[in-house]
Amino acid sequence: MNSKPVRLALAAMIGWGASGCCSLCSKKAEIKIMKESFGKTQDGIAVDCYTLKNHNGVEMKAINYGATIIALKVPDQNGKLDDVVLGFDKLADYETKSPYFGCIVGRYGNRIAKGHFSLNGVTYCLATNNGPNSLHGGLKGFDKVVWQAKEMQTAAGPAVVFTRVSKDGEEGYPGDLTLKLVYTLTDKNEVKIDYTATTDKDTVVNLTNHSYFNLAGQGHGDILGHEMQINASHFTPVDATLIPTGELRPVKGTPFDFTKPITIGARITQSDEQLKFGNGYDHNWALDKDGDDLCCAARVVEPQRGRVMEVLTTEPGVQFYSGNFLDGTLAGKAGKVYKFRNGFCLETQHYPDSPNHPNFPPTILRPGQTYQTTTIYRFSTK
Ligand code: GLA
Repeated sequence: MNSKPVRLALAAMIGWGASGCCSLCSKKAEIKIMKESFGKTQDGIAVDCYTLKNHNGVEMKAINYGATIIALKVPDQNGKLDDVVLGFDKLADYETKSPYFGCIVGRYGNRIAKGHFSLNGVTYCLATNNGPNSLHGGLKGFDKVVWQAKEMQTAAGPAVVFTRVSKDGEEGYPGDLTLKLVYTLTDKNEVKIDYTATTDKDTVVNLTNHSYFNLAGQGHGDILGHEMQINASHFTPVDATLIPTGELRPVKGTPFDFTKPITIGARITQSDEQLKFGNGYDHNWALDKDGDDLCCAARVVEPQRGRVMEVLTTEPGVQFYSGNFLDGTLAGKAGKVYKFRNGFCLETQHYPDSPNHPNFPPTILRPGQTYQTTTIYRFSTK
């Protein structure tokens, strides 16, 4: 028997609560995922924008160019929604001038020294697109390609699934890499990203999302007053080209100690060789955790509007980047100009240049294995 008309009639009789919740049960009505065109790439490929909403009014927009989060509206302590991620209004700006706003970076997120690594006795050569090093997957990394996308309603909330195969040899990396990313917006005001990948040849993989946050709202000045806490008693110091030296250095007694909440700006201008190399914070913290359990990596509070963001991850590290390359030359969404340190990133990841550091947690993926990581950005207020 088809019970649909009965259910519809019942729904009409009892009505749906403002929260989208049926008054007779605790099951929430699904909010439709909107899909609309976001234009075409310069190569003529159509790009779509998916809008996900939860029952608290939180809204996320993601496009299949670079699997990029282009907007994220979350409430402040008075319930006012603001977009807390930096980005652009137009696809062409993402293609031509984006410093990785909101996208997925890969096949190897972060740096590989001199663009070289060896695997099974073979040396692979990558494009050097960041001084002498390879950064974020090379010239045309995962941020600059169009992914397949489809919307999906899940028990946890609305989701968009991005898939693609990175072919053997793409940007110099070995093996066909089959990728799946699931972005879910939950009713706990979480953006949950599940990453999976398999390969047909030994390769290296390190994927992360590169959203720039400003918890006061994008375009609302610098992030120096945000209070940052990072669950790490060590970080990986770098050389002048931001390649880890291989050392795991205790943060204690340094401007890198975020084990207790402290504003980003409190020590950023101190005279410190590591801060000088990064022109601020642009380093990997080695998280205090055992194995790949999901655990809290960082917690950020914006004191004026009271927004809180917690970052949970299965990854062993997080790159905290304080937006040091933003210099006021980029006009972002609604004409907002992004100046020095107007956004920060918390890129959950394996450590930079791991393929060249046998003492770092390994990033090799072999046929038959599944790369599987999860990161959650959870929003609340003080
Ligand atoms: C990462 C890097 C930074 C910078 C940004 C993008 O966070 O570590 O050095 O390249 O990406 O501008």
